[in-house]
Parts: sequence; structure tokens; C-alpha cells
Amino acid sequence: MDRQEIIKKTELFIKETLSKDSTGHDWWHIHRVRNLAKLIARKEGADIFVVELAALLHDIGDYKFFQGNEEAGEEKVREWLSFLEISPSLIDKIVEITSKISFMHTLPAKGKRSNKKNFPIPTLSKELMAVTDADRLDAMGAIGIARAFTYGGFFNRPIYDPAIKPNKSITKEEYKITEAPSINHFYEKLLKLKNMMYTPLGKKKAKKRHRFLKLYLKEFFKEWKGKM
Ligand code: ADP
Ligand code: NI
Repeated sequence: MDRQEIIKKTELFIKETLSKDSTGHDWWHIHRVRNLAKLIARKEGADIFVVELAALLHDIGDYKFFQGNEEAGEEKVREWLSFLEISPSLIDKIVEITSKISFMHTLPAKGKRSNKKNFPIPTLSKELMAVTDADRLDAMGAIGIARAFTYGGFFNRPIYDPAIKPNKSITKEEYKITEAPSINHFYEKLLKLKNMMYTPLGKKKAKKRHRFLKLYLKEFFKEWKGKM
């Protein structure tokens, strides 16, 4: 099977898989991440084929958040790539990306609270950096805001509750089960993303999207207090 055919088949598989999902992982998120990841990959001289495949497959593992099975996602990716008869070494490369991309995995475990500047920076492939930056960018800016409230709405979270303070040093365990208002998510994840970018283009774009997040919060609280 040639590369173009592999991409086309994977695209159809993902569209079909995600159409049955209603937890906030829609096809258009995948579409945006794929395009951003390719843009970053070109700048970084990363392998575009690996980046595109990993971007397409990066969220099918996210079922784990809802069924509690952290290995299910990796298995699903492996199964699909084996079906396409992709070489084992290439499968490993792609699984490396799809299993390491998650923000949640960067959070400290219980009893190991980190400070803001304490994110682990392991040695990562250019392909992993491109897809991760793209996924994180899509959680920021105007689109990130829309996604946060969509997620919150789906899980019946209030927009904001002044009595429930954000937990800025949230642990992995707490993040998994939080039922906090959607605004808290800005402090627990979205505002942290700018300093977690790996690539120069990712950093540049994150700076702008971060600025918009801050502006949005400023307006939000002005309106909340009736000052606008
Ligand atoms: P991603 O594909 O970006 O890794 P996630 O599975 O972490 O996505 O979440 C999907 C979207 O929902 C993201 O934009 C994320 O920021 C948002 N989200 C995740 N958890 C929450 C939450 N507790 N409150 C509001 N939004 C959330
Ligand atoms: Ni994603």
C-alpha cells in the first residue's frame, strides 16, 4: 500500500470512529491538529508521513479517560497500523507519539506536586514535538476556549463558581476526576501550555493564543463583576 493510500484509509477510519464519540473529540480537532502538525513538521524537518499518521491517530486512545483503561488506546493504534501492514519499527515510532502526547501525563503524581517551571523535558523526536505542539495549540486561543466550554457543557459543569478555586498545582489523579467549573480548566491546563511548547513555531503561535486566553479571562471577570 502506498503512503497516500495509508493516509486516506486512516482518515476514513478516524472519521468513522470519532463520529460515534461524543466526549469532545471531534473530527475537526483532528483536522486542525493534522494541518498544524504538518506546518510545524516542515519547519522542523520532521518526517511528514509519521507526523500525519500520528496526528490522525492521536486521539483514538483518549477513550482511556472515560473507560479507565490506559492501554486500550495504544492497542487500538497498533491494531490499525498492523492491519495496514506498516513495519513494526514505524508502528513503534507512531505509538511513541500517540501514547506520550497527553497533557495529563505531564502532571505530577499524587504526593509529588510540581511548581510551574518543573515540567519534565525528556529527549523527544521531532515528530513527537510537532504533533504535541499542534495538539496543545488547539487547546489554546479562541478555539481552545470553545472546546473548554463544549467539554464543560457535555459533562454538566458550571461555567464558573467563585467558591471553587482553581487548583493550579493539580496532580494527575486529581485532573482525571475533577468536576470543577470550566473556567478553572484555564488555570489548571490552558494557561500552562505556552511554557510547554517544544518547537520555535509552536512557541510563536502559543504566545499569541496565550495572550488571547488572558484577554478573554480579563473580559470575563469584568463582566462577572458588572464592570463592563
Ligand atoms: P486533547 O485532544 O487536546 O488532548 P483533551 O482530551 O485533554 O484534549 O480534552 C478535549 C478538550 O476539552 C481540550 O480542549 C481540553 O482543554 C478540554 N478539557 C479537558 N478537560 C477539561 C475540563 N475539565 N474542563 C473544561 N475543558 C476541558
Ligand atoms: Ni487531541
